[in-house]
Parts: sequence; structure tokens; C-alpha cells
Amino acid sequence: MSDLKPARILAIETSCDETACAILENGRALLASTVASQIDIHARYGGVFPEVASRQHVLSIIPVVEQALAQSNLTLKDIDALAVTRGPGLAGSLVVGMNMAKGLALGLGLPLVGVNHLEGHIYSPWVYNAGEGAPPEPQFPLMALLVSGGHTELDLMTDHLTYKRLGSTLDDAAGEAFDKVARLLGLPYPGGPSIQKAAESGDPTRFKFPRARLENPYDFSFSGLKTAVLYEVNALKKKSNTLPVEDLAASFQATVVDTLFQKTMQAARDHHAKEILVAGGVSANRALRQAFLNQSEIRVHIPAFSLCTDNAAMIAAAGYYRYALGYVSPLDMDVQPTWSLS
Ligand code: KG4
Ligand code: ZN
Repeated sequence: MSDLKPARILAIETSCDETACAILENGRALLASTVASQIDIHARYGGVFPEVASRQHVLSIIPVVEQALAQSNLTLKDIDALAVTRGPGLAGSLVVGMNMAKGLALGLGLPLVGVNHLEGHIYSPWVYNAGEGAPPEPQFPLMALLVSGGHTELDLMTDHLTYKRLGSTLDDAAGEAFDKVARLLGLPYPGGPSIQKAAESGDPTRFKFPRARLENPYDFSFSGLKTAVLYEVNALKKKSNTLPVEDLAASFQATVVDTLFQKTMQAARDHHAKEILVAGGVSANRALRQAFLNQSEIRVHIPAFSLCTDNAAMIAAAGYYRYALGYVSPLDMDVQPTWSLS
């Protein structure tokens, strides 16, 4: 997007359990990215404990911003605009990042862009490490599969910041299904990486789990699959003391991956999408990445591993396009609708 105004954005993300700051140039070139993860703290509760998360953000936010500046060899004087995740997320966590960003914007006299977390995930494949070659920029119309812990949806993106939601989950999000099934199998939080690890030595064909048939072919439903795993686990427990955790994990993962892949390809064909984009925490899943990268007939954009789960680089990327395309006025945090779906 060489015709867009150049800008260096400092972004902050604190929507859930990662305190993150990043500095990005012109929407794509990443100068610094720091993430203070709270996974170890929340693992003992088996999920994110909101009150603990917001307290931890308060402790981490200033060091994380200072680290990002140090990493980039820049000072706050070199920043042109700020971006911050304004939602969706945990209220007590969001407010820590929003207050930090508002304080910086007021103190520095810089514009502040409020970014929707989901739009941030969608922009993660635009980002690459400054100094490395820029990968091809995603081309529109683009079919975007967003798979995170809280959301699963298919969005047709016809231009920057322009989306049509074709379908979404009717119950659990894909990441949520990974987390819940991991708990059923006695695997640690977060469930996605645990299931992936167990699945590596499992047989994905051993258990045939059902796929939901839905009126809208672009919608998703994972709660029936979760229940099917539960019934299988209960039946197996009656027969033996040891569960075939690896085979269960591999069969569950294969079902989710195939469902996500088939629906996305169908949506891309039906809407004549030029390219595909996969983003959100579940896009870190190796089996999912392999399915898309090896089997799609059209180009697939998937973020680098470090940008799949929550980070601030993606918030900076979405924030840049909102800033450069004039979708924002200074400090419009509370009034500007930053995510519109037709
Ligand atoms: O995008 P994200 O970091 O947070 C939300 O915005 O929700 O996504 C977190 C989700 C969790 O449910 C986690 O289990 C899942 O992404 N996840 C994975 C993997 N890594 C993280 N799911 C499957 N395979 C993975 N390797
Ligand atoms: Zn996320």
C-alpha cells in the first residue's frame, strides 16, 4: 500500500491473559513485539481467572512498553500514532491497556485508534519482521477464517476494513472446543497446544466423530463433537483404566481441522475469493496449517507462529489501516464503530 501515508504505530493489547506491546511501520514491518504471557499463572486454575489477569496486566504494562521501545531502538518521539485493543475481551483486562494508551496519547499529543481484537487477528498475516523480505500482501476478495478461543467465523473481505460475515459458530469456538476436550482428556491448559502434542503420536482414524450438518454451510458447531468425545471417554473408562488419549486427541483434531478446511474452501469457491487467510490462536495448529498450505488450490496467508495467539503486532497492523485510511479521529475511542459487518 505504497500510496498510504507512512506511519509508525505503537500498539497495546491486553484483552485476555497476554500483556503485549508492538511497534510497526507502515502496517507491515515489525520493529518490536513483546508479550508477557500469564499462561503459567492461569494454568493452575485450568483457565483464565479474570481478576488475576487484570492485576497482572497492571504489573506488566509499563515494562512491556519499555521493552518494545528498547527492542526497536526508538523513543516515544519516533511514534506517529497509538493503537489499542478496545474489545471484545475481559473488561478488567481491556481497561488496563486502554488507560495506558489513552495516557500516552494525551501526554504525547498523538492520535489513538481503538481496534477490535478480531480485526487485529485478521490483520496478523500482513505483518513480517523488518529486515526480512516482505511476503506477498493478501489480495482481495479474500476469504478469512478466524479461529480463536472466543470466536470462529468466516468473513469475506472485499477490501481493507470491509467484511461480510458469512457464518460463525452456533455454540463453542474452535479454540474453546480444543480447551474443553483437553480438559476431558486430562490434558493441561491451554488445550490447543496440549491436544496437538498428544495427537502427534495418535491415530487420527481410530475414532469417527460426527460433523454437524447445518442449514447455513458456513456456520460451525462444535458442541456435538465435544459431547461425542465425552461419551467415548465414558465408554472407554468402563472397559479400561487407561484412556487412549493420543488416539482420542488425534481423532478430535482431525475432525476439527477437516471441518474448518472444507468449509473455508467451499466458501472461497462460492464467493470467488482470490486468496484465503487463516488467523487466530487455532491457526498455530500444525495440522491445520498443513491442511491449508498443502491442499488449497489458491494462496493461503497464515501468520507466523508468534502472531497466531494474542499479540500487539496485529493490533498495530489493523490500527495502521484504520489510521491511514482515515477511519479514525484523535481520541475517538468511545464513539467510532471500528468493526462493521454487513
Ligand atoms: O487468539 P487467541 O490467542 O485468543 C483469543 O482471542 O481467544 O486464541 C486462543 C485459543 C485457545 O483456545 C488455544 O487453545 C488455541 O487458541 N490454540 C490452539 C493452538 N495454540 C493455541 N489450538 C489448537 N492448536 C494449537 N497449536
Ligand atoms: Zn485473540
